[in-house]
Amino acid sequence: MGTRGVSRVDVVPSAPAAMALNAEAKKTLLRKIPHGVFICGVADGDEVNGFTASWVTQGSFEPPLVVMAVRADSTSNGIIQRTNKFSLNVLAAEQKDLAAVFFKPQKGMGGRFDAAPFSLGELGLPILDNALGAVECELVGQVAHGDHTVFVGEVKTATLHRDGAALELASTGWKYGG
Ligand SMILES: Cc1cc2nc3c(=O)[nH]c(=O)nc-3n(C[C@H](O)[C@H](O)[C@H](O)COP(=O)(O)O)c2cc1C
Repeated sequence: MGTRGVSRVDVVPSAPAAMALNAEAKKTLLRKIPHGVFICGVADGDEVNGFTASWVTQGSFEPPLVVMAVRADSTSNGIIQRTNKFSLNVLAAEQKDLAAVFFKPQKGMGGRFDAAPFSLGELGLPILDNALGAVECELVGQVAHGDHTVFVGEVKTATLHRDGAALELASTGWKYGG
């Protein structure tokens, strides 16, 4: 167990060098994994940040867990490490433009939210007014091995603004994977 009850998984040794990976096959196959497109929200004191995340899935019914991989060198990764919490906003199918705002560089931390009004949820995390809804999660585990950290969060709050079709990565023409 790490600090504050967050478990860390020991790094698994790499495969022997003799097992050569077919890089093209790996890329083709991993890009077949279907993904949604979400806005992850983070908050540290008065500062908020958000970014587009597609490497997201559910990990347990009870307790409800979600799994999200976050670039090790991103601003938000450090904030999740410090605060042990994050929100996931589910975008509607027609909100591709908003997703684009949240992966582009911003002038200052939180600047992306100029394009997206939000309120703070019970855990103090950004919940976009115009998304389908959002969940707020407490961090319960992580694997730091490679260029993304795999975070596991337990869903503590859920806010549904409206139901509807969610934005899927395949519909955007963007690629994040492989
Ligand atoms: C389609 C798409 C999907 C993305 N998915 C993720 C993801 O799952 N995890 C991640 O860390 N970054 C993802 N990114 C990249 C981040 O949105 C981007 O690095 C962002 O600038 C990070 O913001 P930050 O440094 O302010 O935290 C994705 C980018 C695009 C274009």
